[in-house]
Amino acid sequence: MVKKVAILANGGDVSGFNAVIRAIALTAKKHNVECYGFIDGYNGLLKNEYVDLIGTHMISGILHKGGSIIGSSTNANVFNYKVNENGQTVYKDLSQECIDNIKKDGFDCVFTLGGDGTQKSARDFFVRGVNVIGVPKTIDNDVACTDITFGYNTAVSVATEALDRLHTTAETHHRIMVLETMGRYAGWIALESAIAGGADVALIPEIPYDIDKVVDKINERRKEGKDFSIVVVSEGAMPKGGSITVENTRDNGAGVDNTKLGGVGNKVAHELEKLTGLEARNTTLGYVQRGGTPTAFDRTLSTKYGAKAMNLALEEKFGRLVVLKNGVLDSVSLEDVVGNNKKIGAVSGNTEESNIRKVSMDSDLVKTARSIGICLGD
Ligand code: F6P
Repeated sequence: MVKKVAILANGGDVSGFNAVIRAIALTAKKHNVECYGFIDGYNGLLKNEYVDLIGTHMISGILHKGGSIIGSSTNANVFNYKVNENGQTVYKDLSQECIDNIKKDGFDCVFTLGGDGTQKSARDFFVRGVNVIGVPKTIDNDVACTDITFGYNTAVSVATEALDRLHTTAETHHRIMVLETMGRYAGWIALESAIAGGADVALIPEIPYDIDKVVDKINERRKEGKDFSIVVVSEGAMPKGGSITVENTRDNGAGVDNTKLGGVGNKVAHELEKLTGLEARNTTLGYVQRGGTPTAFDRTLSTKYGAKAMNLALEEKFGRLVVLKNGVLDSVSLEDVVGNNKKIGAVSGNTEESNIRKVSMDSDLVKTARSIGICLGD
């Protein structure tokens, strides 16, 4: 019987983390289950640092707040953890220490709120005997097996508002306005916000772009008397035959994404200015997509996900990820989520092994964009 549970929030933050934490804790409280939160994701699990979420009333007044009241970590792969030993950097599998902490303090289930990397580690803990339940988080919307991740809707909404604002300044100054969005190796944010924000062009990682096609689209608009254009570029977009634009890299070992993408928006703006003769400006949206208050949609989705996760724990259905499948709340095995990336401690991110969900060419978003004449760069 489940009596004591803990939550960890891991990976880049999103709006909605707190709503999930609150829903898990409220459901736990109702069933007299103790509920704790590990501090800073898998780092807290390793250091055995956690707080009592129900006893401290920490979950009061957090539904609308961005960030995570228990922190999060973007650098912790405890299966290949970066440590300094006698001035030397070495990578160690410290997962057994985490397992010992969970057993020692008697947690019956750990909820892992995170994206593909987080759920990969959750699955690795599960095969080693830990009761885990995952909740799919990321603004990128690229977790396998679910229609949507929490945080994504807020990011799209922020990008759409930015596009509305860029529209008026583009029109006033007869400029091309480029908006670089986040999304890593998946173009969901760029494509959906391009549709919602009435953009003329959307460049996404799944469709390597030909800059001449973008120029054609802009010139077509000029012929119609429209001397401004709006171009959305996903940070992972790349030209045909070219590669992704990397801002910098870090070294936290395998299993976490060490690449910081960025810069393609500027690149596209410069090229368009040169090729069209129109002034072009880039705006890189950055971390505002992740911070601040969640949309009503994300508050509801996060609350549904959190409540479902705790109910799965009460039913003792572990090793699963809460999902939305064709609009219905459900769960799938974490094995399905990791796909062929079976090896314990294996890498996530933009690798052959990872199993992220990219925009497919037959998706409604692609079809809709094409149907209304948004140029996808091909
Ligand atoms: O995965 C979420 C995300 O915000 C991506 O869209 C972005 O590329 C990345 O995280 C940025 O990571 P960091 O927080 O490490 O800079």
